[in-house]
Amino acid sequence: MIDDLWYKNAIIYCMDVEKYVDANGDGVGDFEGLTRKLDYLAGLGVTCLWLQPFYPSPNKDNGYDVSDYYGVHPKHGTLGGFVEFMNHAEQLGIRVIVDLVANHSSDQHPWFKSARRSPDSPYRDWYVWAKKRPPDHDEGMVFPGVQKTTWTRDPVARAYYFHRFYKFQPDLNTRHPKVREELLRIMGFWLQLGVSGFRMDAVPFLISEKGVDAGRELDYEMLHQMRDFLQWRRRDAILLAEANVLPNESLKYFGELGDRLQMMLNFPVNQRLFYALATADIRPLVKALHDTYKRPPAAQWVNFLRSHDELDLGRLTDPQRQKVFAAFGPTKDMQLYDRGIRRRLAPMLGNDRAKMELAFSLLFTLPGTPMLQYGDEIGMGDDLSLPERECARTPMQWSPERHGGFSNGRRTVRPVIADPVYGYRRVNVELQRRDPQSLLNWMERKIRMRRECPEISWGDWRIIDTPESGVLIMRYEWDAHSLVVLHNFTDVARAPRLQRKDVGHDLLVDLLATHDSRADQRGQHVIELPPFGYRWFRAGGIDRNVNREVI
Ligand code: NOJ
Repeated sequence: MIDDLWYKNAIIYCMDVEKYVDANGDGVGDFEGLTRKLDYLAGLGVTCLWLQPFYPSPNKDNGYDVSDYYGVHPKHGTLGGFVEFMNHAEQLGIRVIVDLVANHSSDQHPWFKSARRSPDSPYRDWYVWAKKRPPDHDEGMVFPGVQKTTWTRDPVARAYYFHRFYKFQPDLNTRHPKVREELLRIMGFWLQLGVSGFRMDAVPFLISEKGVDAGRELDYEMLHQMRDFLQWRRRDAILLAEANVLPNESLKYFGELGDRLQMMLNFPVNQRLFYALATADIRPLVKALHDTYKRPPAAQWVNFLRSHDELDLGRLTDPQRQKVFAAFGPTKDMQLYDRGIRRRLAPMLGNDRAKMELAFSLLFTLPGTPMLQYGDEIGMGDDLSLPERECARTPMQWSPERHGGFSNGRRTVRPVIADPVYGYRRVNVELQRRDPQSLLNWMERKIRMRRECPEISWGDWRIIDTPESGVLIMRYEWDAHSLVVLHNFTDVARAPRLQRKDVGHDLLVDLLATHDSRADQRGQHVIELPPFGYRWFRAGGIDRNVNREVI
């Protein structure tokens, strides 16, 4: 087995430089600060960092409104500082992927400024215009309730421009050959500086037809072209798509032959996972797992719990969504865009350690590569007084010192959370590092074990049925090894029975504790699971490198 598809068994950590550490005391996170914390991330077991946009930007959408694709926002440092950071990350064996926000630019981008000034501008056609306001101008908004339209009149251009997202994010005309060429140039630039790939923003919109008479055809071939270019420039680089699409469409994004995107965030599983956590009804989750089972061999799903956006529940049925709202975001101020919950993980789960462990254990053992949101490893909370998604994007809490050790400036880019339950005096890295029972230390141990379980990343899997309701049992097989993971979504103890033939061996070795199981005379394992309990077993023995016969 040639084992060089690094992304398959990676641990991805998603973060915003702006909110991580401020080294120069101006209250805003920077590359110098992040560089100092690379040891922390390496120690946690992170193998790949996803950096959210750090480019020059008016920053009206957390940097997803880019005004220069080839730079570092001065508040985060310089390109030189970026390269220093990259070098450090490389020394520690941490790969870096960066956000590629190619569907739209900022309205402050020089391209748009030029485009609006004159129909003769070479950049005019880089954007999408209409003389009259199109009749469907109030359809297809991504941020309903906040965004009123997808076509806004520009007084300078004396025309309407199309924007799928906020009005300060004009869509790029991604069918224009020059725009495509430029996108490749941007990729080439960052690849040359050492990144291992891109998290591609808003992919379904990027490849859609845009404009007044736009059809519904998606240009998947564009993804193939980008992949070709990517691997021509750097053979081991990857594309990770943000594409919240139906499971049966995902193959078009991966490419039937695996010749488009290597990775996709698994939105179908994410939504049903939260439904299962809210209700202990695992059936929709099992269905989503089956629906996303088929993928080309080199392609990989990325699983996540929370991200920097709202928890999007838009693809659940109405009654399902209402149940998740009731459990995790009961009041209107916790909900967003009529479809999601804007809270962080710990407050959603009531700061209940057992439930948090269950959720993270699932994150680490569902089929794919896990991705963590910065701060979730210590159970950070949210600040619902901040607008929209900003509530879950507060500065990282490093210590009980002023501003949580994030900055020694007078003011910080956002207030550090200071409430009695989730505030930095109580929830911070420094305290948790020194407490052997802390969530952080728990997480580090799980990540360590997860990295030693390539069965999950590489293997084939199936669900083992059990009459015990609310218990999910999965068996992975890879390279003549077998892993069995169990999760109890209910608040009562369960004791599923497993047949020797279903799990592969008489001996199941507990990978996280010392509750090994030997099959009884009838060839059955009885696994005791406490409320919200979880177990990871390897069949036959603890060491994956020793070959043992499995059935
Ligand atoms: C998806 C990003 O995750 C989100 O934060 C952003 O607002 C939109 N794309 C627009 O770029």
